[in-house]
Formats: sequence, structure tokens, C-alpha cells
Amino acid sequence: MASVSQLGYVGIGTSDAKAWQELATNILGMQVVPGDDRSTSYLRMDEYHHRLELRANGRDDVEFVGWEVPDPATLQRVAQQLEDGGVTVTPGRRDEIDDRRVIDLFRCVDPSGIPTEVYCGRPVNQQPFHPARPMSGFKTGDMGLGHVLVYTSRLDESVRFYRDLLGFRVSDFTEVSTPDAKIHLAFLHCNPRHHSIALLQAPKAPKRINHIMLECNSLDDVGSGRDLCRGRGVPIAIDLGRHMNDRVVSFYMANPSGFGLEYGWGGRTIDDATWQVEHYTAADSLWGHPELRSLVTGAAPAET
Ligand SMILES: [Fe+2]
Repeated sequence: MASVSQLGYVGIGTSDAKAWQELATNILGMQVVPGDDRSTSYLRMDEYHHRLELRANGRDDVEFVGWEVPDPATLQRVAQQLEDGGVTVTPGRRDEIDDRRVIDLFRCVDPSGIPTEVYCGRPVNQQPFHPARPMSGFKTGDMGLGHVLVYTSRLDESVRFYRDLLGFRVSDFTEVSTPDAKIHLAFLHCNPRHHSIALLQAPKAPKRINHIMLECNSLDDVGSGRDLCRGRGVPIAIDLGRHMNDRVVSFYMANPSGFGLEYGWGGRTIDDATWQVEHYTAADSLWGHPELRSLVTGAAPAET
């Protein structure tokens, strides 16, 4: 089966691009790269031209998610898998391909309504990346920019889309019990990063996305980022802790578009040759993350 290989880029709609840029540079350590027009700007975190694209369109949510494949032949094969699975695939327009700085792409929509792009031709910037604040940089490369946790009202269909049509493998299934019902999550990988996408069952959700995770090269980057949030009054939605499944040490800060940004370090990696799918019956962390459970159960209204 043909598979996507990494989370390449994410497009974010915002009503306050300046606030996003300030957060990205002063707290996260990303670089701002000007866009082709005044409503678009890019955020850089490694050798890619960009990893996040900001669109000053007033819509405070994720705009699109871009998945990379290694070459044009794989792009064709993934498109065919989607069409064979009943998903409508639309070739990218010339202006979209140029905006993303890639060779080719196609578009489709995932079962929860997220505009999804698959592309080939990673957009490389030969100039070295220099973090915009003192920190050691990001763990990206072939593991992609990090991960996204998205809401879906149809978890089984979303798992089928990512696993059976885009080629992801399941890392684990997690259930969170509430007094009324169980909330289900699925975590999937497409490279050694423990998960590049997580799916949270939620019949109604305030946004398409719960959070984006960026992984730093050093634990000190996470600690200094937390200090900067506290010093500059950036709300911390979930304070420091270590997740049970991917083992990331992280905290979650608010961003101007109203979803979360997880800033972490130390995630474990997966070897598909030996990986056994895991099953968790709680969203509790190994330690810390005191607000995690209420965020998951509060954002995902109970469904049986
Ligand atoms: Fe996360």
C-alpha cells in the first residue's frame, strides 16, 4: 500500500496574524517568512520553506493539513487509493501548488471535514534555520513538523480514511470514561514519530482541531518556553506533564486562533517491524498535565 510519509505543513486561518507571528517568534522560536500577498505569511522551523501558513482571513481554525509523499508516482498511487475508497480527489490548482512551494498536490476532504492535501516535492530552503529566540531547534526532518489532534464525529470512518486510504498505521486506541459514556481516541503514525495525527471522537466540537504539537530538541526549550509564556501572560491551557502513550514531556499554550499548541520534547519512536498496537483506558499522563482530562472530556461531549 502507498503511504504518506510525514505531516508536511498546516494552514491556519486567523483574525490576528500579528499576534500569531509574535507568539511564533518570541515563544516558539519559529521564523516568520513573508508571503506572496499581505494576507498570507509563513512560519519556518527547519530546512523547509515553511511548516505553518497563516492566512489572515478571520477564520480562527485549521484551514488545511498537508501530507507529504516521497515522489510523483506515490502521489498517483495514494490518489488512486482514495478514489477506489470512494473519496473525491481534486488536482491542485497552479496557484495552490505555487503557494505551497511544492511540485504537485491534490486535495480531498477527510471524514470530519478537514481540507486535506497530499503533495510531493518538499519545499526546501537551503539557508540554515535560525530560531528566533535562544533555543536548540525542532525535531522534524523525516518525522514531519509534529502532530495534529483533530475532532471527528465519525471515528471509525476517520480511522479507515487515514489507515486504509492514506497508509497510516495505528499506534494505539485510547478510551476515556466519563460518568455518562466513553470517549474514544485513535493515534496513528506514518513514520517513526509515535503519532502524526490523533483523532478525538466528538459529535460537536468548537474547532476542527484540538491542538498542534511541536517537538523541541531539548527539554530546556520546553522549560524556557513555559517561562516565556508565564512572563508574557500567554495562557497555559495544560501545564507540564509527560504523556503515557508517546512519552512526550510538554505543556499546552493557547494561541490566537483559539485551539491549543503543545510544546514538547522526548517523544518515543515506533519501529513498524516490532510495534504492537497498544490500548489505553485512560488519558491520564505519567505525571503532570493536570488539566488534560478535563480538556479531553470537556471538549468532547459524551457520546455512547
Ligand atoms: Fe499532542
